[in-house]
Parts: sequence; structure tokens; C-alpha cells
Amino acid sequence: MPQTDVLIIGSGIAALSAAFQLQSSKKVTILTKSTKYESNSMLAQGGIAAAVDKYDSWQGHFEDTMTAGSHHNDPLAAELLVRQGTKEVLTLINDGFQFDKDSNGKLLLGQEGAHRFSRILHAGGDATGKAVVHFLLSQLGKNIEIIEDEMALDLIISRGVCRGVFTRNAKGDIQQHFAGHTILATGGCGSLYKHTSNSSVITGDGLAMAFRAGAVLTDMEFTQFHPTMLLINGQCVGLISEAVRGEGAFLQNENGIRFMEGVHAFGDLAPRDIVARTIFSQIKKGHRIFLNISSITAFESRFPTISAMCKKYGVSIDEGLIPVAPGMHFLMGGIKTDVDGKTSVSQLYAVGEAACTGVHGANRLASNSLLEGLVFGSRLGVHILNFSQNAIEKTEKVKIRTSRKRDVMLPSKEEIKWMMTNHAAIERSEEGLLIAKCWFEKFLWPISFWDINVNNFTNNEYEKMNMLTAGWLIVTSALQRTESRGGHFRTDHPYKDDRLWLKKQILLSKYDTE
Ligand code: SIN
Repeated sequence: MPQTDVLIIGSGIAALSAAFQLQSSKKVTILTKSTKYESNSMLAQGGIAAAVDKYDSWQGHFEDTMTAGSHHNDPLAAELLVRQGTKEVLTLINDGFQFDKDSNGKLLLGQEGAHRFSRILHAGGDATGKAVVHFLLSQLGKNIEIIEDEMALDLIISRGVCRGVFTRNAKGDIQQHFAGHTILATGGCGSLYKHTSNSSVITGDGLAMAFRAGAVLTDMEFTQFHPTMLLINGQCVGLISEAVRGEGAFLQNENGIRFMEGVHAFGDLAPRDIVARTIFSQIKKGHRIFLNISSITAFESRFPTISAMCKKYGVSIDEGLIPVAPGMHFLMGGIKTDVDGKTSVSQLYAVGEAACTGVHGANRLASNSLLEGLVFGSRLGVHILNFSQNAIEKTEKVKIRTSRKRDVMLPSKEEIKWMMTNHAAIERSEEGLLIAKCWFEKFLWPISFWDINVNNFTNNEYEKMNMLTAGWLIVTSALQRTESRGGHFRTDHPYKDDRLWLKKQILLSKYDTE
């Protein structure tokens, strides 16, 4: 019976940062349903925002974070992010990580949307996430075991305490992994939408597992659509980093109209929610959208990943126009945690995009996500080191219910994406949200998904149930927030409403729905 001190589900930067701290005195198992190189962190292009320039300040970074987040942010979490963030980045550099530098050895700091200062550190041009993941993996020692191709199905909860997780291993066998501490670092839920920058493995698994286990989730209505995904034959095939606009590219439609002019003081570098919505309204009018990159010299050396992707899909960099459209990028909400990663369920933690400390408010500031992983992953690791006993409680194998396999009716993943894309994406309304909510409930209620027998569902069925659950959480929250703020825009309530009851977070738990 596998047993460990700390079990981490997911292998992105938040997971690896926590593991890095824990390895000094804990035995850690990292579980991933795919490979350790498959995560959203690996796809992160732009970089890591941090106030490392002598003319920059954490206060400036803090204000930009709060403004981008429509001041829905938890100020304590945001202050921790930017203050500790600078330290974490400097530690990474001291440990030997190589950010891109100019020929004099000075760090190259890029610009991205809603930042009033060039403070984005990057590596490999536009491959920052991949470089950091590889670096952190190289820093992990013998106390860390990484198990690949093993999908976490459901948390093991005994007398209200999380004891570990049920999984299905690569051979198809159900396993029980026991741990003193279980961390969900499973990312968000990009796969809920037709267009997404996320890895296809991101199906809301941690969010749904936490919900089934009774944890509180919050801010689920705040979804961020990245304005510029490469659009080929109506399909978004990958991210075109905001750093491209930071280097001087601008948005235009097929008539050459620069439609971001006059929309926001920062023009093409307005906060992401505003740029994505403006593009969406252009698309609704029948326009095609392009990123004009003609002013960027040496594009290929600054953006090698993006250049290779354009080449692969037959888009000529030399012609200077890249076809783009918005795609689901980041979930600001998630499993509610404090700033040390503690959830409402004892011994269960969450970190990174799966978690919601409130740090990003209603819309995340560009390049604050890898930073979040570094800061809150590290804090969680230190918290467990400082405040936990070494040995885990004696655990006994849990008897798995032997209920008969029922025929469940589940929709296809494409149908789920269609529902979310049509009714709960960049624009929402009560009518559409109610259609989606009823549709999700049609599938979820008969399953009675808080009473699931792990043997009865395949991994693919689990992913679908997780997507349905995450979708239901988003539409349920979005219905309750009768205003527009950050990544949540209601056509029937198009303005911010600062009355107190709307400003507070919407909390969801399975106990409120039973
Ligand atoms: C990008 O490079 O545009 C994405 C970075 C981020 O999500 O902050």
C-alpha cells in the first residue's frame, strides 16, 4: 500500500516548488496522469513578472496586480505575491537559473499588458515555463518520487480528514495512495472550452475532486481568455504571447483598423479581459483579427517558439500579420485556500491555478501565474515543513464500495466544450447560464457524484465528470454574480456593482447543494 509524507497531484511549477522545499525532510510523491513534462507551466511563454529593476518597486507591481484584478483581489495575498516573488526570482537566479540577458549580462525585462513597468523576466526567448520546469526538476533529489501515467480519481476522506487519493495506474489497477498531506496542483480547466491555450490534460480534475470531497471553492465565475491565440482554419492551435505586443506588435482587423485605440489608456496593452472582450466584439461584427508584428526586428530570435509554431501552420512571419482569436487561458477562482495553501478540508492543500487565494482578483495580471506557482508552492512547502509531524497516521486500506456498475449517461467532451463556449465564455447572460446549468445537472444529478465508486468509471468518464463538475461550478457562480467585473462579463448586467454583497466572494460547497 503506497504511503508517503506528502502527496502532490500535478507536476507544474507550483507542484515542483512545493516539492523542492519539502525534500529536505519529507518523502514526497508526485503523481501525474500524463508525463512530468505535460502541464500548463510547460506552455507558459511570456515569463515571470517581478520587481527586480532598481527603478521598479513591489508597490508598483502590487498596484498593477490590484488594478488588473478589478480590486477584487485579496490584498494580503497580492502583497505576498509581489514581495516574496522578487525574493523567489532572485533565489532562482542564485541557484543557477538563466534568464535571458543582453550582451552586457543585464537581465532583459519585457513588457506585457496592464504593467506600468517593464518587469517580465524571460528565458529561451518565449519558453520561460519550460525552462523553469526543467530547472526545478533538475533540483529534485532522492526524497522525491515521480509517478507518471497514474490518474488521481478521488480523494480518500476519512472522518473529515484527507488521507490520500484513489488512483488508476498505467496497468489499469485501482491504487490507494496514503499521505499525511495531500496537495492538489492540478491546474485549472482550460479543456472546458473549444479554444484554449491549456494542455489537453487540464480537465478540472483537482477542482472536481475537491468539490466531491467537501472542500469550498470560490471565485469560479472569473475566467480569463487570452486575447491572442494563433487561429488556423477556425481552430486555436497555440498561444501568441502578450510579450509580442509588449515588443511593439498591435492588433488590427482585416481592414487595417487598430480597434484597441481609444478603448483603454494602455491601448493594445490594456488588461487582458478588456482586450479579449474588444476582440470578441470585433469577431461578432464579422471581422477577422490579426496581430501586426511588422515593427519587431529579429522576431525569430526573440520568439523562437512562436516562430516555429507559425512556420508549422504555414503563417509567414515576414508578411507581418498573424491571425488570432481569444481562448480560455486561466481560472482566477478555484479551491479556496489561505496563503499557505490550506483548504477547508483537514490535511488537504491546493496550490497554483487549482487554488484560489484571491491573489488575482477578477482578472490575473500578465506573467503573475508562474510567479504564483513559485511563491505559493514554496510557502506551502515551508508551511508543511514547519507545522506538521513527520510520521503519517497509521492508515488502513479503505474498502471500496462494491455497488453494481450502473449505466451512466455522459455527454462527449465536445458537447461540454460547446455548452461552455456558447453560454459561459467571454460574455454571459442569465438565459444562457440557466440553459448550461440545467444541462449540466441533467448529467450530474443522476450520478449522485458525491457517492462515486471508483471502480465504476473509466479515466475518460472521470475526466468528463470532472469537466461537468467544473462547468457547473462556473455557471452556478456566474449566475450569482449579477454584475460585470474582470473576467466575468454579463450582457444583462454590464457594469460593476460595488454594493457590498456583490464584492464578496461567491463560495460553493457540495453541502450547499445537497
Ligand atoms: C503570455 O505569454 O502571454 C501568457 C503569460 C501569462 O499567462 O501571464
